[in-house]
Amino acid sequence: MNAGGQLRRLMAGASLLVSIATCPHCSPNPADESAPPGAAREDLTPVLSIRELMTHVIDPTADAIFDAAVVDVSAKGTTTTIPVSDEDWLRVERGLLLLAETSNLLKMPRQVAPADAPPEELPPGAPDAELSPAQIQKMIDGDRTGWNDKADGMRRVALVSMMLVKGRDPESLFKVGGDLHDACEACHLEYWYPGDKAIVERSRESTVTQPAK
Ligand code: HEC
Repeated sequence: MNAGGQLRRLMAGASLLVSIATCPHCSPNPADESAPPGAAREDLTPVLSIRELMTHVIDPTADAIFDAAVVDVSAKGTTTTIPVSDEDWLRVERGLLLLAETSNLLKMPRQVAPADAPPEELPPGAPDAELSPAQIQKMIDGDRTGWNDKADGMRRVALVSMMLVKGRDPESLFKVGGDLHDACEACHLEYWYPGDKAIVERSRESTVTQPAK
């Protein structure tokens, strides 16, 4: 993987305050039954691209959950961070609720990257190349159901995790973090860097313990 791509994948977006949408009347919009699935709806105004949703909303929100329970082992010893106050737990719950709802934002048709995004620098055909926004767009448009499935996967994990954290058991946060990470990667390995799929599968296989002969 090239350094730029890696950096982008690792970069946790700065917590920008993003106003996603205003709600002048706050009444639920009746679903437009006549529109084909995935068609842009006139009553919705997407503001962010998928990339910006990731950088400014989904990634920082997920980080707050991943960082809520951390065991840090270093030469100086082990430090453990876990939620202590109600406020700490509330932050985790709010993150999960926001991620659950954000699955709907992912299902709203929107552009993959801003029109002025820098062009892809990877050589075409590189095995671990990230797909370009145009390639991702084509995949999404070609199979909306498949894309929506991955977004729904993130919603389901966030909602099941909500039930788990209600128990206020810090241990549960390690499972929550792992499950959430898997839901993110399920989509990324399909739509962002499918070349890594084989590597991930190989590493999964190599961690399976063989029964003693
Ligand atoms: C339904 C699919 C989907 C899900 C679910 C999803 N992502 Fe993404 N994500 C994408 C796509 C597609 C891109 C690549 C967009 C682009 O061209 O930059 C991306 C890119 C990113 C980026 C890079 C953004 C940038 O600035 O280049 C980060 C960080 C990220 N995702 C984090 C996450 C995290 C964390 C989760 C889970 C909590 C998650 N994503 C869940 C589809 C998804």
